[in-house]
Amino acid sequence: MGNINRRQLIGSAAALTFFPRYGAFADENADLLSAQEVSVQLLPDGYGTTNLWGYNGSAPGAEIRVTKGGRVTRTLRNGLSQPTSVHWHGIRIANAMDGVSGLTQDAVQPGDAFTYDFVAPDAGTYWYHAHNMSTQQVGMGLYGPLIVEEAVLPDIDREEVLVLDDWLINPDTAQLDPDFAAPHALSHAGRIGNYITTNGIANLTLPARKNERLRLRLINASNARIFPLELQGLDGWIVAMDGMPLAEPQKVAQAIVLGPAQRVDLIVDVTADVGDLAHLVYLERRDAFSQVAFAVSDEGASTTRPAPAALPPNHIAPVNLGEATALTLNMEGGAMGGLRAATLGGVQKSMREIVDAGRFWAFNGAVDGMEGPPLARLSLGETVRLTIRNDTAFPHAMHLHGMHFHEIGDDGSLGPLRDTTLLERSTTREIAFVADNPGEWLLHCHMLSHAASGMTTRIVVA
Ligand code: C2O
Ligand code: CU
Repeated sequence: MGNINRRQLIGSAAALTFFPRYGAFADENADLLSAQEVSVQLLPDGYGTTNLWGYNGSAPGAEIRVTKGGRVTRTLRNGLSQPTSVHWHGIRIANAMDGVSGLTQDAVQPGDAFTYDFVAPDAGTYWYHAHNMSTQQVGMGLYGPLIVEEAVLPDIDREEVLVLDDWLINPDTAQLDPDFAAPHALSHAGRIGNYITTNGIANLTLPARKNERLRLRLINASNARIFPLELQGLDGWIVAMDGMPLAEPQKVAQAIVLGPAQRVDLIVDVTADVGDLAHLVYLERRDAFSQVAFAVSDEGASTTRPAPAALPPNHIAPVNLGEATALTLNMEGGAMGGLRAATLGGVQKSMREIVDAGRFWAFNGAVDGMEGPPLARLSLGETVRLTIRNDTAFPHAMHLHGMHFHEIGDDGSLGPLRDTTLLERSTTREIAFVADNPGEWLLHCHMLSHAASGMTTRIVVA
């Protein structure tokens, strides 16, 4: 049997069972993104439904899919009681479309609307999410996958978009913990949920066929959880990170660590036997459990195939490390961090005063967050080499808006292009990028409770 790609499958009834949650294709409301309250059977049957916030009646929101170079037009209509906006995470976009409330636009008030209109310049796996009071709004389900297909699709049988999340939920009431500003979450690891889902479903099981070649698009939409993942009964390669293809597919030999907001594209061959399960395994601290299971029904392609080819590259301006501007971002604070004092509004404050102001984390000695001066003002085309020092007792997932950056290896080599880099506690990471997108861009921790309590700054490119 020849290869069937996703486009061919989507029209058939079989395809619908593969995509239970996301309606990928346009309906008459395709241009509307209506943020509203929704009631979802998030917990297993037998429990009550959970009140979430979603788009167009579903939480998580439906997939948006275009081809590279395609235009995305969505009118956000705010049916919530709280102002909101939409950020297109990882899309290298014009600043005015970036969706950051209070920076690139005013938050859209309840009852109001705002139209986003942009071209998706890069193929890859992205996502969209609310960017106002994000701890609460993303935590309540205001996000969805944004998939930009390559002009020529890779040679696979089928793909699955897998959005990982966790929810902090009270099983008795089936409602989310409403305290999105709990000091413990702000000052420790962030809001960590107690109920883990993929595409809004716990213990997601998908059908697969032996020797089938799948593309798995993994998106970590959680507020703060880091997912170390392993393959079982699947032979896999990482082909892209944060949307950007790797020059060479990288055989999966160790845990794939997916920090909040990060994405990984895998190409996997199903090697588990017919009648068995293959797994995407989530390695939690002491346990391992199946994040996603694949029930292998029958023989697909009869033979195994050679390693997959690299995905076609996206065009990103090459960095000029020889003439890079050096910047430093020192991250301090949080519980067990030993921060004694920092400035707020240019005034030295004690830790007590800082905590009273709802701040826990300092960037370069200041806890101003959005209200402070930008980290840097760069001229268009300048290469930047930014050293990020995590001098705290917690990991952080630092996200730069508007531009992808290279992680720099310990040996100084250019690592993968990313938009979000995960720093373990007490580690340092260097990143480098060309400031080629004009505007004022956020740089913040994607542990959203951290972003809300000091871990936010900006970079101005002009
Ligand atoms: Cu994914 Cu500033 O956000
Ligand atoms: Cu953080």
